[in-house]
Amino acid sequence: MRVLIGDTPTGQDGVGRQDLEKLYAAPSTPWLRVNMVSTLDGAVTGESGRSAGISNDVDRRVFELLRELSDVVVVGAGTARIEGYRPADKPLVVVSRSGRVPEKLRGVEPGRVILATCQHAPELAASRELLPPGDLLLLGSHRVDLSALRQRLEERGFENILCEGGPHLLRDLLDQGVVDELDATVVPRLVSGLHPRVTDGPPIDVPLKLDTLLEDNGTLLGRWLI
Ligand SMILES: NC(=O)c1ccc[n+]([C@@H]2O[C@H](COP(=O)([O-])OP(=O)(O)OC[C@H]3O[C@@H](n4cnc5c(N)ncnc54)[C@H](OP(=O)(O)O)[C@@H]3O)[C@@H](O)[C@H]2O)c1
Repeated sequence: MRVLIGDTPTGQDGVGRQDLEKLYAAPSTPWLRVNMVSTLDGAVTGESGRSAGISNDVDRRVFELLRELSDVVVVGAGTARIEGYRPADKPLVVVSRSGRVPEKLRGVEPGRVILATCQHAPELAASRELLPPGDLLLLGSHRVDLSALRQRLEERGFENILCEGGPHLLRDLLDQGVVDELDATVVPRLVSGLHPRVTDGPPIDVPLKLDTLLEDNGTLLGRWLI
């Protein structure tokens, strides 16, 4: 791996673990970053309909690092369902308009899975049976107020917030002005076909500033500030 834009590592052996930690350190806290991988033609999934189909070793390395640097992981319910999310080392916040707890995230100890939903969520009653009250965040009447979500997470002491997508959630987070940083890995592949892009939903127009760019065998790993 080499640094194309950003602080160059001091050691002789390329970009090591400590260098990566420095390169991805949050410039201040609280901080909310979103991490996504896509192909050069913009697909966020491969044939399987999951991100694993396009991810590679260096993407996984950064994915794991960002989880380690985080206090809490936020994910859209669609991604949690499709990617088969299970409870992780860090508390997992699932954002859902329907208010449905993904099946593989049920029956876990308090504080490990938090559902962020709204008061009119159609499946709220069932979720009340599945989650302790402290793990059910009602943030708005008909839609989830993502700014309020960030604030509630910060109040709980989660200062390094990592979101792992998906495209609809990223679009809404950007629209509501909640994101500080987008970590976008672009793998050197073209897949064509019909795949979601990094964002999905009604149009937005968000300018970004490139902070860091890393390269590893053609894979580009960018840190973009909003
Ligand atoms: N390449 C990558 O880095 C990457 C990362 C993540 C996901 N993906 C892929 O992206 C695909 C899923 O795309 P997606 O756009 O459907 O993912 P998504 O945003 O995670 O899922 C959409 C669902 O999440 C909930 N949601 C999202 N935004 C919301 C909001 N603002 N308020 C309330 N609920 C919200 C809703 O769940 P309810 O239906 O429960 O209301 C919505 O139906 C999958 O194929 C996945 O593999 C790729």
